[in-house]
Amino acid sequence: MKLAQIQATLESDLADVQAEEGLALVRARYLGKDGLITNLRKNVDFSTMTIEEKRDFGSTFNTMRDAAEAAVKAAATRIAASGRNESLKFDFTLPASDRRLGAIHPIVRTQIEIEDIFRSMGFTVYTGDEAVSEFENFDALNIPGDHPARDMQDTYWLENGMVLRTHTSSMQNRAMRQLGAPLRAIFPGRCFRNEALDITHENTFYQLEGMMVGTDVSVANLIAVMRDFLSAVFRTEIEVRLRPGFFPFVEPGFELDFRTTLGGVRRWVELMPCGMIHPAVLHAGGVDPARYSGFAFGLGLTRLAMLKHGVPDVRLFNKADLRVCQQFQATL
Ligand code: DAH
Repeated sequence: MKLAQIQATLESDLADVQAEEGLALVRARYLGKDGLITNLRKNVDFSTMTIEEKRDFGSTFNTMRDAAEAAVKAAATRIAASGRNESLKFDFTLPASDRRLGAIHPIVRTQIEIEDIFRSMGFTVYTGDEAVSEFENFDALNIPGDHPARDMQDTYWLENGMVLRTHTSSMQNRAMRQLGAPLRAIFPGRCFRNEALDITHENTFYQLEGMMVGTDVSVANLIAVMRDFLSAVFRTEIEVRLRPGFFPFVEPGFELDFRTTLGGVRRWVELMPCGMIHPAVLHAGGVDPARYSGFAFGLGLTRLAMLKHGVPDVRLFNKADLRVCQQFQATL
């Protein structure tokens, strides 16, 4: 091999090396006892050379060997800095096609999509805590201690008196206190209820709560925002209708249905409860109900992801079954 060739292969070998062990092999190949560079000197017949030629050869050889040593050192520094090392039992040198890529869970994907839509309408995204005070989960939402609504939601109580939030409505109070009025915010997150599990009930599920508070917010704003939002999610013009519904934290309260041909049949599907925020709830959040009004809605994020992707059993989402996850990986 010619000098230039040896130099070039050394460079490309060093560039490919990702771990200390590989680097030791490359060093041996070029600079070891029987290495390509070392052998250059062994194979030269000095007896036929003039002093001048010998000197020239010696200086070229030394320069090359020193440069090679320096390049190996630089590669060692790079490997150490990358933190990659053969001692980690992970093969960074596997070709990319052999790696299994992860996928975004369908619920999270639906959440990200919805967040984008609401952000484009001027809403802030707020997450909050999964363990909240009893006050935030119930009292601040106009649900007094002996109110039957507390039984509607089978609550997990923590030993310190806090609760695992049974709904994302628990964020309403904090958002009003922290953001003040006027405000537009959504709160996606995980909720917990001590449910008997079946194809539509899980003890761990996702909701996405939203609220808009301002000086002239009315039911018309609620309908308009919901219609725009659903049309963006389903990528087609969506019709909505309101029916009366009861929740202690809204007055009037509604059930919002949307018209769809999902599943081939044109029908109304019950989607989410909503309503005009109860004055007591505004008051508890430090917002003056005489000046401000607002609407709120509670979307079942898990349920929407089921509708959107045609998932028949809610329990599939929490099962960590690779066959489920891989179907969604394909559509990433
Ligand atoms: N928090 C209620 C639940 O989980 C849902 C809900 C109803 C939220 C009405 C709202 C609302 O914001 O206005 O059952």
